[in-house]
Amino acid sequence: MAKSKSTIYVCSECGGEHYNWEGKCRFCNAWNTLKEFAPSSQAQSEVLGILQEPQTFDQVSSDGLSKKFITKMTEFDRVLGGGIVQGSVVLLGGDPGIGKSTLLLQISNILSSTHRTLYISGEESLSQLKIRASRIAALASPLQILNETSIPNIIETIHQKKPELVIIDSIQTMYHPDYPSTPGSIVQVRECSLRLQQLAKKENISIILVGHITKDGTVAGPKTLEHLVDVVLYLEGEKYHNIRILRAVKNRFGDISESGLFEMQNNGFIEISNPSKIFLSEKIQAPGSVIAVTLEGRRPILVEVQALVKKTVFGYPQRTSSGFDLNRLQLLIAVLEKRAGVDLANADVFLNIVGGLKIKEPAVDLAIIIAITSAKNNIVIPDDYVFWGEVGLVGEIRQTISEKLREDETVRLGYTRWPKTKTIKELLSNLKLIT
Ligand code: TYD
Ligand code: MG
Repeated sequence: MAKSKSTIYVCSECGGEHYNWEGKCRFCNAWNTLKEFAPSSQAQSEVLGILQEPQTFDQVSSDGLSKKFITKMTEFDRVLGGGIVQGSVVLLGGDPGIGKSTLLLQISNILSSTHRTLYISGEESLSQLKIRASRIAALASPLQILNETSIPNIIETIHQKKPELVIIDSIQTMYHPDYPSTPGSIVQVRECSLRLQQLAKKENISIILVGHITKDGTVAGPKTLEHLVDVVLYLEGEKYHNIRILRAVKNRFGDISESGLFEMQNNGFIEISNPSKIFLSEKIQAPGSVIAVTLEGRRPILVEVQALVKKTVFGYPQRTSSGFDLNRLQLLIAVLEKRAGVDLANADVFLNIVGGLKIKEPAVDLAIIIAITSAKNNIVIPDDYVFWGEVGLVGEIRQTISEKLREDETVRLGYTRWPKTKTIKELLSNLKLIT
């Protein structure tokens, strides 16, 4: 007899789905890992549960969505659009060790005093969690903690304990026994998230899922995970710096251009409400050091851009960049050589954005051009200068978005000069960096 169409074969290593049994998985090339899997035996035509009546908007109450759990950690609340919306599912992604568990333990510790909060860890034992909680002084809170990885058990616990907020750390450690693949595989991640998402909507509880990210920077597991949840946040930062940025890449209830800044300290995260002050705190006046204004979300931040230029000793000139795209640095060097006559053919150029920030916006181009020329010609830029502007291939200086916001922040911090000309050549000679 022919097999039912719904039968598929799932790789227990990577979760890849196949319509026929094969010896080798087409996705991860593992041998003998395909297992037969029948998603559901229920007939498609059968009515599930109670048949619902369609409604008009005025019949629908929006009460649930207007209720938000406010953490009073302004940087966190702002990224979420004012707090964690009741009944929403939030995915928090980030590299291992960046501080996801620490941040969420802090958040759940704060919220547990006003809402029933349950922190479920599949990665750490309860005593490990206790050590972390003692570091962030959270031992006295009424937060409930649990070490569990089985989704049916978690769902049952939630039904019994009726928490208002649940943290799942991490989705890659969770498994559902109905599926043959290992925890962390695509099938498990998708199915476990789906069940938790359905539970959140049905019971009107908020769930925060922690997700590890892969080498290419996306949350491990299928893209469908991002579609399932209401909010996707990423916690980013350089491992060896203590500044962390929380960004929203999807938010059904708020603005995704918001970002939150934190500093990781020995006793957990503290908020950074005046980032420019921190980024410029150790700046000294020296050739190659320049202040730029960059936008982090909608917030202007003043950062120090440093360049070091030295004669190439052997072979090709070196170009190294930290915190800025290397290809764009190469392009800016080419523009500088060709359009302003700064000779860098036999010079090594090193660029650094101080404080571990990664800047992607081209508004920082101008500061980089100035820093390199200042370093090359050994001329100091006075400390009251700030630069921003995109540099084009013909050496023109272009307008950036939110000029007014940048100007206001510059003035607020007491900087008085942000010279603008039409071309980089004009500006460099006005500043007497070139003759
Ligand atoms: P963690 O929250 O475990 O990261 P993730 O859950 O994203 O994997 O953070 C681990 C790092 O943070 C670890 O290197 C120790 C450091 N840390 C602090 O610097 N201060 C603290 O208060 C805590 C709890 C951790
Ligand atoms: Mg963790």
